Amino acid sequence: MNNIDSVSHATGRSVYLDDIPVLKNTLHGVVFDSPVPHAKVTLLDVTGAKSLPGIEGIFTWRDIPGINDIGGIVPDEPLFASDEVHYRGQPLALVVAADEHIARKALELIKIETVELEVITDPRKAQEKGLLLIPSRTFSMGDISGAWSECDHIFEGTASSGGQEHLYLETQGAYAYPSENGCIKIHSSTQGPTLVQKVTARLLGIPMNRVEVDVTRLGGAFGGKEDQATAVAVMAALAAYRLQRPVKITLNRNDDMRMTGKRHPYTSDFRIGLTQDCKIIAYSAVMYQNGGAAADLSPAIMERTLFHSTNAYYIPNTEVTVHSCRTNLPPNTAFRGFGAPQGMFVIEAAIAKAAEELGIPAHLIQQANLVSEGDEFQYGQEAENVTIGKCWENLDKKFNLTKIEKEISHFNSKDHFCRRGMAVMPVCFGVSFTNTSMNQARALVHIYQDGSIGISTGAIEMGQGVNTKLAQVAATVFSVGIKRIKLESTNTSRVANTSPTAASSGADLNGNALLLACNELLVRLKSVAALMHDCSIEDAELLKEKVVIKGVATDTTWEMLVQAAFLKRVSLTENSHYCTPEIFFDKTVEKGHPFAYHVYGAAAVTVTLDCLRGTYKIDDVLIVHDFGNSINLVIDNGQIEGGVMQGIGWMTMEEVVSSDEGRLLSDTLSTYKVPDIYSAPSRVVCYALETSGPELAIFRSKAVGEPPFMYGIGAFFALCNAVKSFKPEFKTDYDAPLTPEKVLMRLYNH
Ligand code: MOS
Repeated sequence: MNNIDSVSHATGRSVYLDDIPVLKNTLHGVVFDSPVPHAKVTLLDVTGAKSLPGIEGIFTWRDIPGINDIGGIVPDEPLFASDEVHYRGQPLALVVAADEHIARKALELIKIETVELEVITDPRKAQEKGLLLIPSRTFSMGDISGAWSECDHIFEGTASSGGQEHLYLETQGAYAYPSENGCIKIHSSTQGPTLVQKVTARLLGIPMNRVEVDVTRLGGAFGGKEDQATAVAVMAALAAYRLQRPVKITLNRNDDMRMTGKRHPYTSDFRIGLTQDCKIIAYSAVMYQNGGAAADLSPAIMERTLFHSTNAYYIPNTEVTVHSCRTNLPPNTAFRGFGAPQGMFVIEAAIAKAAEELGIPAHLIQQANLVSEGDEFQYGQEAENVTIGKCWENLDKKFNLTKIEKEISHFNSKDHFCRRGMAVMPVCFGVSFTNTSMNQARALVHIYQDGSIGISTGAIEMGQGVNTKLAQVAATVFSVGIKRIKLESTNTSRVANTSPTAASSGADLNGNALLLACNELLVRLKSVAALMHDCSIEDAELLKEKVVIKGVATDTTWEMLVQAAFLKRVSLTENSHYCTPEIFFDKTVEKGHPFAYHVYGAAAVTVTLDCLRGTYKIDDVLIVHDFGNSINLVIDNGQIEGGVMQGIGWMTMEEVVSSDEGRLLSDTLSTYKVPDIYSAPSRVVCYALETSGPELAIFRSKAVGEPPFMYGIGAFFALCNAVKSFKPEFKTDYDAPLTPEKVLMRLYNH
């Protein structure tokens, strides 16, 4: 089944924030942001700007009636900076005018005077100075100090990975308008409508029930709108509230890139210890997360880095520490994988280092250490229904890794300037929010008198197809056509206290809540059917829009049944609550059972490198992935392709560059390169491993949003192998992204 939005997307009829018809007298806001990275603000004078004709208002921290804080986890981030600024791009004021052009003119008339303070952009320097966003955390298992003496080989190194711009096609934006009794309604391009609602209420000093947040869909998010959609929404709400006029803000691309945080760059020191037969028995790492100027989601992202720091491997003795470092950059934030890719890159670098020193292919070490049934993860959870071994075996069976290696070495033995390389990337990703309390969701289902169905949940459709999966859940339970079902917008007045749609868990949490609601309604409808046909409820079922009694189809259609239920005054509405059972985590000992289940898969990535130019082509990405019992392979494969592409981009060409003075240099699409069709792999082949799937996944169909991103890490190591083939003395530095420039430097200049 295709995505239910595909036709409206393809024909341009899908409604995004900027497509919402605006009310008469709508005003437009633009943000005045800090031109310096770290300074005392001695003067902020908006009087000149205010007197420009057409300017309806300029808002600063002084205009906030409630609390000037938008921090989601730690209250350390003002909406508008007051006496100090901590990064270039930090909002200082919102200019509101009849149109955006006038508002932009006014920006130039705002006077600011500052006394500059020391700028730190390097996380290691920040940590040295004690500039941390939250206290550092360590996950450990076994006896790391004792284990080193048992090792036959010990290797050390440093690995760094860069930031990543989300580049959602739809930039951050919001549209807010006042309504009666001091209420405010906000259309926001956010993954977390409840967060927008909560922060707006806090900032305006009004109760949450006065704030209604509504989301139809997002034009991409990738984590970038989990926390960072809030600021823009709250600004629009503040101006709308103060002026009692509708206010719309849509960041242009350059403003969006400059003001918003990205994937966290990490730099890490690792140490890995192996036995003679390639068993990794000790692994330690210290990781420096570049958090930017405020906590944002960094504490949660740091946690997921820790959870996934040993990727798909069982290592009996570990110790991994993450420092979340405060720097003068925009607060870095959620991005697909949520810290896991950064952690996994380090263990993969450590394994690659060991392989390089031992003169063997890395995949021999990888395969020898894959997690198996009953192994304990670093965080205390026991591995269950482990399929990584099967994924790897099937990868080899389907694609014959030895044959690929032979072909590559044959190719590389010829005298020309191209070299090929391969790497395998296994992935193990835990599904659930690591903050246990967030694993809850609600669904509201209405069956209308004509048999059509309206569904509201807390899930946000951001292109990933969650609405399609939710429609499938209802259609399956009621056995009705998908056309009968409408997914309503996500609205805080219909479904309250929602978790953001994140952590790959949107379909699981909201789908399970929806399943409960539909099952409850089904019971009611069956009892009506039983009454109509004078039988017991156990004998009644619904099949293909018909009532079936004792296995025999009757003439009673779905529509007739619904109509009968309505006339008998049976409720056709249900509201259900779901929370993931069994999960818990105790932060005081850093142990527990945080995940409902794990997603596993393995990919082989091959590349061809032009050793004259340093340019390269990703040839094949060959995958065996455990989807569980996928309810929609079209959508799931779409997630695989998108994730792989984005992962490859992060590891190879996407380079977020900031100057030492905290100026983002890659702030346009001409200076920041994202993968396009020319940089896509020649082939992405994904086999679904046949498994029954975990009970806690919706219809046993595993979460799929984030896990495939990490397959892209394979591209980095495949490239390293190609470089080594050309230049055998090359010692890999694990410094991602491996852009063509960097490759060229390593080929000739290292
Ligand atoms: Mo996602 S990176 O958990 O919004």
